Amino acid sequence: MIISLIVAASENNVIGKDNKLLWHLPNDLKFFKNTTWAMPIIMGRKTFESIGSKALNGRLNIVITNQKKYNAEGVVIVNSLEDAVFVAKSHSYKEVFIIGGGEIFKAALSKAEKIYLTRVHTNIEGEVVFPEINEVKWKKTNSRFYPDDEKHQYSYTFELWERK
Ligand SMILES: NC(=O)c1ccc[n+]([C@@H]2O[C@H](COP(=O)([O-])OP(=O)(O)OC[C@H]3O[C@@H](n4cnc5c(N)ncnc54)[C@H](OP(=O)(O)O)[C@@H]3O)[C@@H](O)[C@H]2O)c1
Repeated sequence: MIISLIVAASENNVIGKDNKLLWHLPNDLKFFKNTTWAMPIIMGRKTFESIGSKALNGRLNIVITNQKKYNAEGVVIVNSLEDAVFVAKSHSYKEVFIIGGGEIFKAALSKAEKIYLTRVHTNIEGEVVFPEINEVKWKKTNSRFYPDDEKHQYSYTFELWERK
């Protein structure tokens, strides 16, 4: 099973602030939905709460927490990244998407084969960051640039990175 990360990060690698996203980019939300649709998604407890503690429909939602009694409807709760990957694997999916946030990306990067990165072309302040992609280990295999417009405050590029 391929382990992939899917993330939107600013030029300076910021992905969030105060448990929120920092931009509204409808095309990126569409890309996220299309890419992850019908697949398992793995997220940290804080990201789950940041999206309203509701499962994203049409996908197997797996939430990681250290808490032993954490409970939420419509999601599978696990206590480690390893268990999260195990759950996805046991359902025979061909790819699993790690969807954040910062803590989970940091822990999962070394296990991943692909990164679907939406590079948002701005420098912005925020305490949650995506780890630097090491170009010795990773190769950019696809890149599509979109300019800003009336619905998109920033220009952005959909990039695909694959482990060399
Ligand atoms: N731009 C993007 O693409 C994107 C995507 C997703 C999220 N975000 C942003 O990222 C921010 C949230 O990220 P974050 O780093 O603060 O939190 P997070 O990674 O979403 O969640 C952290 C929580 O996950 C649990 N956890 C982490 N590692 C664990 C492990 N090894 N074993 C068991 N549990 C573990 C812990 O939950 P407990 O405390 O319950 O134990 C921890 O507090 C928000 O601002 C959100 O908007 C951005």
